[in-house]
Amino acid sequence: MTVLNWKNEPSEGIVKGFLLVNEAKIGTTKNDKPFLGMKLSNGIEEIDAKKWDYDDQVPVVGDIIYIEGKVQEYLNCPQLIIYKFRRALEKEYNVSDFLPSLSCNRIQELTDEFNEIQTCLQERYRVFIQEVIANSSNKYFTAPAAKIHHHAYIGGLLEHSLAVCKRSLALAELSMITINKDLLVIGSLLHDIGKIYSYEYDKPPIRMSSEGKLLDHIVIGLNLISDAYKNTMPLLDKEDYLHLQHMIASHHGKLEWGSPIVPKTIEAEILHTADNLDAIDFKYNKAVQDKSDNQEWSDWIKGLGKEVWVK
Ligand SMILES: [Fe+2]
Ligand SMILES: [Fe+2]
Repeated sequence: MTVLNWKNEPSEGIVKGFLLVNEAKIGTTKNDKPFLGMKLSNGIEEIDAKKWDYDDQVPVVGDIIYIEGKVQEYLNCPQLIIYKFRRALEKEYNVSDFLPSLSCNRIQELTDEFNEIQTCLQERYRVFIQEVIANSSNKYFTAPAAKIHHHAYIGGLLEHSLAVCKRSLALAELSMITINKDLLVIGSLLHDIGKIYSYEYDKPPIRMSSEGKLLDHIVIGLNLISDAYKNTMPLLDKEDYLHLQHMIASHHGKLEWGSPIVPKTIEAEILHTADNLDAIDFKYNKAVQDKSDNQEWSDWIKGLGKEVWVK
């Protein structure tokens, strides 16, 4: 089975391979001719695809298809013109090849780092966080942190949470106020814990679950830590628990960014700043990685609402 990596293909000639259907619908050209428009993914990136003069069966989202066609530039983006395609047979592909993922080694490295950070915590905080993770069937180590915007791959939640934790601790070092660093650590590591249930990622594409659409990760996260609090009583005192709830509830920083409350403690302010900066840093890094040799400005970055200088 060959997943089609269009960037590695020569610009001339026929390309062949397997791709995942992310979107598919019949459209009509200016000349009133039907065509099939699709967004196809190789598990890492997405490409626009067209099959002209087509009004037959529309592929189902989530299907793997075999295609033959050519890659061309359209409005500065690659576009796949399909000559022929068919649904792939199950024996022809591994579904995991189309799920963006960190390598097993990288996930193990991050898991070790996560365990190491815990050893520095006072016992009550360490037992509490272990309770939350264990109750979540260890999905924490494989969940993505997003569908599209940042860390949108298997292992992304763990990578993002650890990065936020390290950024939070670095900011805490510079604070003029005494900070509860253990609470900051568990707040950072658990701030997006609800994402383990707000996405479905058993097969591609990574998508929002019904729970995610109806409650989103902040509410789900609050429910998860509430269960752990009840199970470990009287481990965490009431004030610490309230503070942790507040940090999770306010980590998006603004009501219009999805938090039900704005940060009202220095730990919550630091967590929000570290979280926001980690997502921004990820997007800048991706823009730099994706840029071509002479490119000075990135494409429009939806999550930032602007293009950025990548000179
Ligand atoms: Fe979040
Ligand atoms: Fe986050």
